[in-house]
Amino acid sequence: MEKELNIIIMGPPAAGKGTQSELIVKEYGIPHVSTGDMFRQAIAEKTPLGMEANTYISQGKLVPDEVTIGLVRERLAKADCQHGFLLDGFPRTVPQAEALSEILTSLGKKLTAVVLLVADDQELVDRISSRRVCVKCGASYSLKTKKPAVEGKCDNCGSDLILRNDDRPESFKSRLDDYHQKTLPLVDYYKKEGLVHEVDALQDIEGVFTSIRKVLD
Ligand code: AP5
Ligand code: MG
Repeated sequence: MEKELNIIIMGPPAAGKGTQSELIVKEYGIPHVSTGDMFRQAIAEKTPLGMEANTYISQGKLVPDEVTIGLVRERLAKADCQHGFLLDGFPRTVPQAEALSEILTSLGKKLTAVVLLVADDQELVDRISSRRVCVKCGASYSLKTKKPAVEGKCDNCGSDLILRNDDRPESFKSRLDDYHQKTLPLVDYYKKEGLVHEVDALQDIEGVFTSIRKVLD
């Protein structure tokens, strides 16, 4: 039997987690569990969870741990995660990492690897200013490096491409600060377990994916 892949992809906002996740899930056939995408879907559907999450996300602030942990706990218990998963954007705080460890123990699972995308802040600011996302399916494009086939339209579903509302400079700065203060400490947490594989996110999209494949194969 092939080895089960229980992976976390980590990295600062705009490092390319979503872009690489799309390639990883195609290659390895595991579900993409993105807390950011789950929140954005709930916001679009105006559910109570979405309304609550939006008050934080629109300002570039983290959604409270208890809300986020509950969401991931439910998601990882679903049947499609039984033979592996790719977590994107979770965990982001030490309490979230501790909760994940407890969730995985209760499911009889172990993490296989943490892929850490490394990029400097200037590159992230550049990438965010040219990012456009699909209003419907959330797919991510770049006006510079990943143009859609038809200008302003999603390749997957044909819907309009827009600026994400937390990509305004003030919100983006707050997201970067949170990454440095609250999320980077997790790297040490996972390094102690020997799980961290650093990948240079400044390469082009294919180059980053080749490096990730080397880690996962
Ligand atoms: P989330 O959706 O997770 O956002 P994020 O971590 O800020 O990361 P992004 O999605 O902005 O960037 P990405 O790394 O996916 O980059 P992308 O591939 O798009 O979270 C959003 C919000 O939800 C949070 O701020 C928080 O409020 C809340 N939230 C989510 N999870 C939470 C949690 N666990 N706890 C609490 N709150 C939570 O790429 C960026 C751009 O660069 C694109 O235009 C892309 O085309 C381009 N690009 C990608 N790779 C390359 C490359 N190699 N070369 C050139 N361009 C590239
Ligand atoms: Mg993303």
